Amino acid sequence: MEIVIVPSPEDGGRIAADIVCGAMENGARTLGLATGSSPLHTYRELIRRHRESGVSFAAMSAYLLDEYVGLTSDQPQSYAHTICTELVDHLDIDNARVFSPDGGASDPSEAARRYDAAIAENGPIDVQILGIGLNGHIGFNEPSSSLASRTRVKTLTERTRADNARFFADPADVPHHVITQGLGTISDARHLVLIANGARKAPAVRAAVEGPVSAFCPASVLQLHPHVTVIVDEAAAGELELAEFYRYTTEHKPASQGY
Ligand code: F6R
Repeated sequence: MEIVIVPSPEDGGRIAADIVCGAMENGARTLGLATGSSPLHTYRELIRRHRESGVSFAAMSAYLLDEYVGLTSDQPQSYAHTICTELVDHLDIDNARVFSPDGGASDPSEAARRYDAAIAENGPIDVQILGIGLNGHIGFNEPSSSLASRTRVKTLTERTRADNARFFADPADVPHHVITQGLGTISDARHLVLIANGARKAPAVRAAVEGPVSAFCPASVLQLHPHVTVIVDEAAAGELELAEFYRYTTEHKPASQGY
């Protein structure tokens, strides 16, 4: 696991964009996308590179991590809709190859199984972008999620519903259930890139990176993965015990070694 501490979220966005673009140059064809605030600087940077430097996403497919049960892709709060507004509509990626769990399905559990099978068939995902919840969730794998879990229906904690209420007119409108890639599904991706900014995320980052591997902190599953980059700003790195060492390894990184 490589932990990169950056001065600002914008710097983190540039590094994550370097990872995505570098992977594409090396033949990556499948991206894993998170919604929420954490990847926004990365997405803005990818859009900028597409517009100003002609970086093309025409050959790419993308899979979202999760979706609310009961929301269809034409509803603005759905993650399928959000990712279009934040990223997809601004790139030359084919919308028909941007996939998300079907939140509007009459049988959400079956939709989850289908989604997992589609990722297995068309994957592996080359670069998976991740944010982290205050309670250590990735995707919507809340604490107690099996570290081997596959895509399925999960119940959100009240805290996660409250954190996400900002996107809804009324906090009561935040759905209770989601379809989320499981921790096992996420771990099938080749390269996991977790982005966290701000002091509120510091305890979750510490638990994920330096705590025990445990379903209590779902993001700690990253410790079992062979290729992980954690990009944190100074505030999110505020509780890391080995922060000095992580800075040292970044400074002394072998020139030949990319992310
Ligand atoms: C969103 C997702 C979540 C978020 C996490 C952090 O697709 O999977 O795990 O990444 O809740 O959200 P933000 O980035 O808004 O703080």
